[in-house]
Amino acid sequence: MNPHTETVLNYHHRTKHTLQRYAKGPETIDWEDQPDQFRRFSGCETIALPMPGQALKPLFTDLDNPQSIDALPLNLESLGLLLELAFGLSAWKEFGPSRWSLRCNPSSGNLHPTEAYVISTGNGIIQPGVHHYVSHDHCLEQRCLFSDTAEHTDILIGLSSVHWREAWKYGERAYRYCQHDTGHALGALHYAAATLGWSVELLPECSDAEISSLLGLDRKADFKPLEEESPDIVCRIHTQTTRNALTINTLLENTQSGIWYGKADSLRAYHFYKWPVIDEIATAAHKPHTEEAEWLALCQFPATSSCTQTATEIIRQRRSAQQFDGKMPPLPMADFQRMLAAVLPCVATFGFWRWPPKVHLFLFVHRVEGLTPGLYALPRDDAALAKLQAATLSSFDWQKQPGTLPFYHLYSGDVKQIAKTLSCHQPIASDSAFSVAMVAEFSETLALSPWLYRRLFWECGLIGQVLYLEAEAAGIRGTGIGCYFDDSVHEILGIKDDAFQSLYHFTVGKPLEDKRLQTFPAYGHLQNAGIKP
Ligand SMILES: Cc1cc2nc3c(=O)[nH]c(=O)nc-3n(C[C@H](O)[C@H](O)[C@H](O)COP(=O)(O)O)c2cc1C
Repeated sequence: MNPHTETVLNYHHRTKHTLQRYAKGPETIDWEDQPDQFRRFSGCETIALPMPGQALKPLFTDLDNPQSIDALPLNLESLGLLLELAFGLSAWKEFGPSRWSLRCNPSSGNLHPTEAYVISTGNGIIQPGVHHYVSHDHCLEQRCLFSDTAEHTDILIGLSSVHWREAWKYGERAYRYCQHDTGHALGALHYAAATLGWSVELLPECSDAEISSLLGLDRKADFKPLEEESPDIVCRIHTQTTRNALTINTLLENTQSGIWYGKADSLRAYHFYKWPVIDEIATAAHKPHTEEAEWLALCQFPATSSCTQTATEIIRQRRSAQQFDGKMPPLPMADFQRMLAAVLPCVATFGFWRWPPKVHLFLFVHRVEGLTPGLYALPRDDAALAKLQAATLSSFDWQKQPGTLPFYHLYSGDVKQIAKTLSCHQPIASDSAFSVAMVAEFSETLALSPWLYRRLFWECGLIGQVLYLEAEAAGIRGTGIGCYFDDSVHEILGIKDDAFQSLYHFTVGKPLEDKRLQTFPAYGHLQNAGIKP
């Protein structure tokens, strides 16, 4: 076996939570010592983006047909909106002396390891170069200036992760959560771009080394040890004005000949616990440059939604439910079907996902109109059906449910307690309408290349982001669940080996608001500081 694949498999197995013990993490947490959630680079010019919060007309349901949305012109305001709707703040919360921000993209533990960069060429809006987005201040920090690229008009977005931000709280399992968060951020970027009438083109060939070089992450001297950023993904944003897009090689030449500015501020001086397995897995799951097959997802939306809210409303109001109403009336079947349809790879959201679906859903159904409570499955690829049937309990009946969705009944019964226990005893998995285990085609995928371990988590995060927004559109709420007992999930499903592994959980239901929390506007602090649009 490829030694890197072995490292990835070892990491995966040692970071499983079990009923007997949780994956290795810090024994104590000093909340005063939480890493700064907001990276800033000192020594760079900053560009203030126009005041965020603008309401746009497109309805959330218009995103089903992206071509129906008139594209906004590319200017500083629309670029700011793209960044805000994808990675910006959505609110501040206060409870007693504690105050914390929330963002349009969710994050495990609200730790936000994901950083976003804009690469701009010749658009006359911001100088050609590499710019780091600071969501707190809604501004760009000019990390690199290119020489003239006026012939070409391009906007790219690059994502990276500060693993340590997540490991500070979650220890060894944190690397998985960083990958989930990247998937969520990608989904958030897609929804933001679609709302502006733009689209995202994922650049799947790029290697980690290329992304590092593009974003300046390989400039070791600019980062404090242990606070580096690891490269994740680069996407091109298609606006009306994109023309003569530069190749990655030309962009790399620009970053190499460009002038770099600034050094990353320290996130926190003290690193009490160290997690070397995270560095090991990050090296083993390094992405090489790859040749990727042309991929044409069929983009048609099979299920309508009754949502009448705008896309900007849905995106900004997205939250994780912390508690559900266990006495909620059953979720209407039409809403449930819409959510299932929305995660299939044949819809607009997955149009930009350049890889074949490898993640399938097992659903613990508690409160859905017209459905007997129990266990169900949604294979997201027809070819996976037989493999899933062969890998799971022979007593599952795999009864196809009426309708066009690939939705199968497996077992009838009250699965509330099972769902709760499996999700680290969290009641959000049982008081909901339904909860989900995302099960990936694991060993076959990893055998192709160890870096695909990350891609499986990204796919899970992307599915999670769809569920978050669809839940809001249905008037209810979702929550991602990274804490679950891996092998107990496999045991309940009858999975005996690495052919399939559960990589993420999610739950959807009627939220109960915590009235003790106060909510404040996302960017009130900028208004107060007098920053003008
Ligand atoms: C990958 C991932 C895993 C998560 N796991 C859990 C979990 O196990 N339990 C939970 O209550 N919330 C979980 N959450 C929700 C986060 O705590 C939440 O996103 C974060 O606090 C920010 O709040 P917001 O989603 O309302 O913006 C998870 C979120 C993500 C993205």
